[in-house]
Amino acid sequence: MSAYVVLGAQWGDEGKGKMTDYLAENADVVVRYQGGNNAGHTVEVGEKQYKLHLIPSGILYGNKLNIIGNGVVLDPKALFEEMEYLKELGVEITPKNLLISDRAQLIMPYHRVLDGIKERARGSKDIGTTGKGIGPCYTDKMERSGIRVCDLMHTEVFKEKLEENVKDKNDIITKIYREEALDFDSVFEEYMNYAEKMREYVTETSVVVYDSIKAKKEVLFEGAQGTLLDIDYGTYPYVTSSNTIAGGVCTGAGVGPTMITNAVGIAKAYTTRVGKGPFPTELSDKTGEWIREKGHEYGVTTGRARRCGWLDLVILKTAARVSGLTSFAVTKIDTLAGLDTLKVCIGYNFNGKVIDYVPASLEDLAKCEPIYEEVKGWDESIENARSYEDLPENAKIYLKKIEEFTGTKISIVSVGPKRDQTMNVNEL
Ligand code: GDP
Ligand code: IMO
Ligand code: MG
Repeated sequence: MSAYVVLGAQWGDEGKGKMTDYLAENADVVVRYQGGNNAGHTVEVGEKQYKLHLIPSGILYGNKLNIIGNGVVLDPKALFEEMEYLKELGVEITPKNLLISDRAQLIMPYHRVLDGIKERARGSKDIGTTGKGIGPCYTDKMERSGIRVCDLMHTEVFKEKLEENVKDKNDIITKIYREEALDFDSVFEEYMNYAEKMREYVTETSVVVYDSIKAKKEVLFEGAQGTLLDIDYGTYPYVTSSNTIAGGVCTGAGVGPTMITNAVGIAKAYTTRVGKGPFPTELSDKTGEWIREKGHEYGVTTGRARRCGWLDLVILKTAARVSGLTSFAVTKIDTLAGLDTLKVCIGYNFNGKVIDYVPASLEDLAKCEPIYEEVKGWDESIENARSYEDLPENAKIYLKKIEEFTGTKISIVSVGPKRDQTMNVNEL
């Protein structure tokens, strides 16, 4: 296998950071292809915990090449803060282990401002974004007024584009929303400073990715967010602004679909969601709270409490379909130990019919009633399990339900946040 994707099968925070770190042991190159510093990927190695937002999780190895691809929206402020944070934790970063696409779009201060303004203007219909400027930056990309990393490398081009953008955005900020204008000079100066620090990392990364695959190196594409936050296949408009599904790799890293060999969907053993939007199997009761506390379900990027609910196999089936998943890696099965009975959703009752896909319309989704099957729980502490045989029988039954309903095998089971709390049960 030479090029494979690790992506979120639910609403994000499935454990992509941990699984990327685990799989990166055999990889040569790790690539982020969409999203930005809205992501929060946790990796635990030994006693150390790392929280990554923008830099691929392969950076912790030191000898892997990490790439921020063209599909990523890059906030230089966040980038240098993260580099500093990693340096303090002993991680050295040079152009030998990090490259940045010259085609990536830059998150500018006005994108962060507009993210906040738009959310406030939505009132009770706010999306609950991370406030990092993700939506406004992708909006500019599609509107063709965005500023790319390559522009930042050419001072005159950057200055001209920044002037146009600051003028345009200041009109919106002051005239429509009556808020404070941004100062061109200070933004220009700030970004000129970033330009010099960034220059040595910037290149046409799609060539590097292509050459690596052709040279039979292992390339791992690290997804951010999750399938139901995908701009096309998620619970629109309560989604992020990029394609989080496997197709996002093609456009976000410049790789043809025929070059991707495997796609692994990371699935938490239950369901969580942070931010607003529909969630059919949500538990707004004591069990939901119990899962939140036991699973430490609080956001890495915003610290918000995550909403928790039963495992929804309709969602996993949707993820398997739209990304052509070759397998699932199931995480946090240890969190569920201690519950007498577990429920898994095996379909939605919708207008008298049973469906096994997530409908496009939120009005339709609101009418969907989850159909549950019960599985007996397990008391044993399974965090010490290191092979499939070590797992309690009922946990095996639970895992089998995922494979049977989705028609997709499970390749990896994770029973804790650390590298060694992981077992391979099948090929990816
Ligand atoms: P990501 O955004 O998909 O990378 O996931 P997050 O890092 O936001 O959230 C996943 C959380 O679960 C992190 O705190 C991980 O350290 C932790 N984690 C990952 N896998 C497991 C697991 O199998 N069991 C437990 N208990 N925690 C896990
Ligand atoms: P990782 O990679 C969970 C959610 C936000 C909000 C919606 C839109 O750690 O899984 P945005 O700032 O992207 O415009 O917010 O998407 N969201 C995430 N939820 N995990 C993430 O990343 C997320 N990134 C964005 O909470 O509902
Ligand atoms: Mg996260």
